[in-house]
Parts: sequence; structure tokens; C-alpha cells
Amino acid sequence: MAAKTPIPLDELRAQVQGCHQCPLADGRANVVFGEGNPDARVLIVGEAPGKNEDEQGRPFVGAAGKLLDELLAVAGLKREDVFIANVLKCRPPGNRDPRPEEIELCTPYLREQTRTINPDFIVTLGNFSTKFILKTETGITRLHGHVQKAGRFNVFPIFHPAAALYDHKKRADLEDDFAKLGELLGTRPPADVPPAS
Ligand code: URA
Repeated sequence: MAAKTPIPLDELRAQVQGCHQCPLADGRANVVFGEGNPDARVLIVGEAPGKNEDEQGRPFVGAAGKLLDELLAVAGLKREDVFIANVLKCRPPGNRDPRPEEIELCTPYLREQTRTINPDFIVTLGNFSTKFILKTETGITRLHGHVQKAGRFNVFPIFHPAAALYDHKKRADLEDDFAKLGELLGTRPPADVPPAS
């Protein structure tokens, strides 16, 4: 059977912006479709928009987003190089965890984004996106930093940057994992060579 033609991102965006499939639509200021390079080699998948993201309609614009930018730089990447999306496109009230029925209704959009962007690597941030993409019950603490496979995609699970804002150990793990991502992609800036004595 012939493969389905991927849906252009602009068409998908319009579909998501008009979505009222679950009650999260009633409380949103903006849909957060995601943004970045439509031909990215790396698709980053977070959990769900927070307050700042809901207000601006853009992913990872708060404190976790600032840390994400710093971590991307460790991998030799900029925001414009990657595409950033979330499992849920609308903010759960009070930043509560996504519910199974919300994930079920919303993730066909993420699946279509993945087919259209067709990245080499899907970087899953935290438990929700890792469990959804890998269909696993294994937690992020065990999986992070190890390349997995989901169909034809390489999946690289990493801690969620929000979990590292106040946890130095997690921040060090995140830096190590983003450095490894840069090595896998061949984008990491070379380590400083000590001066010859
Ligand atoms: N946390 C997420 O998982 N996604 C965002 O877009 C912002 C914070």
C-alpha cells in the first residue's frame, strides 16, 4: 500500500488552531502548535504549554525555555535548527499533568507533525513525551541519554529542563545528554584544546 502523503505544516497548524476536541480548548488563550525548522533533523517534544507559552502561543518561552536554549547550544544547535512541539497543544489548567484522554485526543497532531517533519532524531523531554513516543512504562531516569528506536525514528530521551531548574544533578545530566546528542548529530562544537606548553 502506498504511504500517505504528509500533511503540510501550515495545513496542520490551521487544523490544530481550530481544534475543540477536548475541554482544554475552552481555557486556552492560544494554541501552541510548535515552531522551528520544518526540515529539522531534530524534533524536540515537550509535555504541554505552561502559562507563558499559552499567553504567547509559542513553545518553551519561560524559564525552562531559556534553559533549553542553553542546552541546545551545548549540542551545537540553535532554536532555528530544530522543531519544538509538545504532546498537548493546549495548556492544562494550573499546569497539572496531561490526562490520558487528552493525550489520546491530541497526539494524532503530534504524529502528523512527526510524519511531515520526518526528523532523524526525536528528542523526548521528560516522562510524558518519552512514554508516549516509545510506548513504554520505563521512566526517564533509566532511559535518558540512551538512543532508542520508534519505527524508523531514533529517539533520544532526556530529562525535562523544568526538572533541572532547581536540581544541579539533573542539570549536569542534561548537559551530558545534550553533548551526546551533538556528538550523534556531528554538530557539537569541538572541546577546547588545552594550549601547548
Ligand atoms: N514545558 C513544556 O513541556 N512545554 C512547553 O512548551 C513549555 C514548558
